[in-house]
Amino acid sequence: MRTYLVAGNWKMNGSLAANAELLAGVQAGRADAAGVELLVCPPAPYLASVAAATADHDIALGAQNVSEHASGAFTGEMAAPMLREVGCAYALVGHSERRTLYGETDAQVAAKFEAAVAGGLVPVLCVGETLEQREAGNTEAVVSAQLAAVIDRVGADGFGDAVVAYEPVWAIGTGKTATPEQAQDVHAFLRASLAKVDEALAMRTRIVYGGSMKAANAGELLAQTDIDGGLIGGASLKAEAFLAIATHARDAAGA
Ligand code: 13P
Repeated sequence: MRTYLVAGNWKMNGSLAANAELLAGVQAGRADAAGVELLVCPPAPYLASVAAATADHDIALGAQNVSEHASGAFTGEMAAPMLREVGCAYALVGHSERRTLYGETDAQVAAKFEAAVAGGLVPVLCVGETLEQREAGNTEAVVSAQLAAVIDRVGADGFGDAVVAYEPVWAIGTGKTATPEQAQDVHAFLRASLAKVDEALAMRTRIVYGGSMKAANAGELLAQTDIDGGLIGGASLKAEAFLAIATHARDAAGA
């Protein structure tokens, strides 16, 4: 049985005051999502303060990015052991904004994945197609290449307990969500791809959905067989909206 993961990617949003208010709200409603793993990924400058605020509240902490290097002359980068030391358990790897806006390649994403695991972090590997790629019928080819780049580098053993996030680029921040069927199809394809490598890996790997997930669509998405949680942007910035999604995950787990 896979534990549902509901993760908030705050992207480049927040302030000390806004974070404190958001976390207080999430903590106040944490009990409503009992049995669901909650994760927040704040901007790097706030990791240590969020770690302190979440330590006793059963809310995991993740970074939005991680370097492929363990240390050294890499100005502006953050190494996995450093993120681990300030309290991170997870790191997002290969988010589409990193791929598109900062030119991260499949090979670099695979190197980051490997560095995250080596540094004691659980990677959340983001994959997803653009609208153009979907319309050309290339969705499976795109996500399969993104996943294969990592598997080819680390193998089934090196994949560990990593999470895969399916985030169709056309659904991110657009208000357009994949239908539950569209999402389930890709999640099932990703799980089948993992099964070709290792059956046990496919069974244990959580595959979460991201892209305009909100309270109004979370219930149907999370009820799909191969959707094990959500990676939420906009709706993770409001405690009530984030908790409403987490509550849907609790209900899906109990169903
Ligand atoms: P939105 O929920 O704002 O569409 O963002 C999704 C996302 O990119 C999470 O990583």
